[in-house]
Amino acid sequence: MRTPLIAGNWKMNTTLNEAVQLVKSLKQTINSISAVEKLVCPPFISLAAVRDELAGSEIKVGAQNMYSEEKGAYTGEVSAVMLKDLCQFVIIGHSERRQYFNENGPMLSKKILAAIKHNLKPILCVGENLQQYEAGQTNFVVSEQFKTSLAGVEQSGTLTIAYEPVWAIGTGKAASGQQAQETIAFIRGLAIAKYGEKAASEMRILYGGSVTPVNMAEYISQADIDGALVGGASLKTADFTQIVKITSQKGLKG
Ligand code: PGA
Repeated sequence: MRTPLIAGNWKMNTTLNEAVQLVKSLKQTINSISAVEKLVCPPFISLAAVRDELAGSEIKVGAQNMYSEEKGAYTGEVSAVMLKDLCQFVIIGHSERRQYFNENGPMLSKKILAAIKHNLKPILCVGENLQQYEAGQTNFVVSEQFKTSLAGVEQSGTLTIAYEPVWAIGTGKAASGQQAQETIAFIRGLAIAKYGEKAASEMRILYGGSVTPVNMAEYISQADIDGALVGGASLKTADFTQIVKITSQKGLKG
């Protein structure tokens, strides 16, 4: 059985003070909601304060990115060794990292291996852009991203995958529940081929892209969708709370 995960990706939003205020209010509203794992991913600079604010709570903390090397002359980068005391999860290969910072499969597989080595739980993002979607290349693109980003990653372990069609991110044009289910079932097939039936049936696969309190029920009622990676709506306490509640009502999956 898979416990659903609702992850808030705050992206480059919130000052230190705003981040603390946001988790203070989320602690009031989502801490005690059961049957769903709750995660917030603030900017690096707020991780320590958010961790302290959430100490003893049921809400987990994640980073939005990391570098694959452990330390050294990599100006501006942050390593798994630095993150492991601050958070439990790390988002790897978000489409904005691929698009604006030229991250690619070989770089991402190194990051995932480094995250796993230091007991951080990676959330690998995959998804096609609009042009690829319109050309009917979704499965091809997702499969290539899966293969290259997970090259050398022999155990699925704590890995979560987030399917985020780029055309649905921040656009208000969410995929339908059925579209998301089809691609996520395809991804679970890739996981079965690589990691075997048992590991793949335990792996969480999330949907992301314009998730709101209005469309969340449609996603979580699909057989293979184990939660969501939420951007915009994760910055609003009421919306994020509602998304967590709706997910909790559906309970365990698998
Ligand atoms: P969105 O972002 O919910 O604002 O579309 C999702 C994401 O990029 O993780």
